[in-house]
Amino acid sequence: MSPPLHRLIYASRIAPSCQDDLKSALVDIVTRAIAPNRAARISSLLVAHRGWFVQALEGPRPTVETLFETIAADPRHHHALPLAAADADARLFEPWSMGARMLSLGDEAVLAALNPKAPFEPARLPERTVLRLLTTVADVHWRMLGEQQRRQDDTKRAGRLQVDYQLEARCLLKGQIGDFGTLQDPAGIAGDRPLDVSFIGMIGE
Ligand SMILES: Cc1cc2nc3c(=O)[nH]c(=O)nc-3n(C[C@H](O)[C@H](O)[C@H](O)COP(=O)(O)O)c2cc1C
Repeated sequence: MSPPLHRLIYASRIAPSCQDDLKSALVDIVTRAIAPNRAARISSLLVAHRGWFVQALEGPRPTVETLFETIAADPRHHHALPLAAADADARLFEPWSMGARMLSLGDEAVLAALNPKAPFEPARLPERTVLRLLTTVADVHWRMLGEQQRRQDDTKRAGRLQVDYQLEARCLLKGQIGDFGTLQDPAGIAGDRPLDVSFIGMIGE
């Protein structure tokens, strides 16, 4: 019998050295984790905000537990504290073998809606609130990806897709490695809205 599907969520404090260049650290973590997570049937979402990491790991229970031990010993953060660890019926972060997100000003609205008064201290948040935070971030990204795909299709039809953007977008849509931050959009595809493509790795091709 295959091991049960397990979901573990933890919060940790980002190490100062990592916080200094968080964006590069996240790129490094995500790009290196995509292939091993995919091979191990792990789906994961990592959120960085105000000195905290919050990560969900889903997959076969022994794999999740071993991976958590490895991650917890990583010097880029400390005090990794499991907030939830339980077998689950279904994956909540299925599309991503590894995704990460630095919460932005726009995401503050998400946080405020979850817990308007309290400061962001995930280690003290109730399990369901943390779960909701992560699933909301995942959902926003999922919709954004759909929007980008539609925009790419429209632009393709119009026959003016700029090469760099096409490469990046194809890479992203194939579920490989996205680019952190704002994608250059010299062809003006996005109008005056920046294209935000913060991650992504997917299970499957
Ligand atoms: C916050 C954080 C999250 C991480 N998440 C993963 C992950 O999901 N999968 C993974 O393989 N490595 C992840 N890593 C990297 C691991 O800690 C570790 O560097 C990597 O597994 C290589 O381990 P090894 O040197 O023992 O082979 C993460 C690191 C940090 C700091």
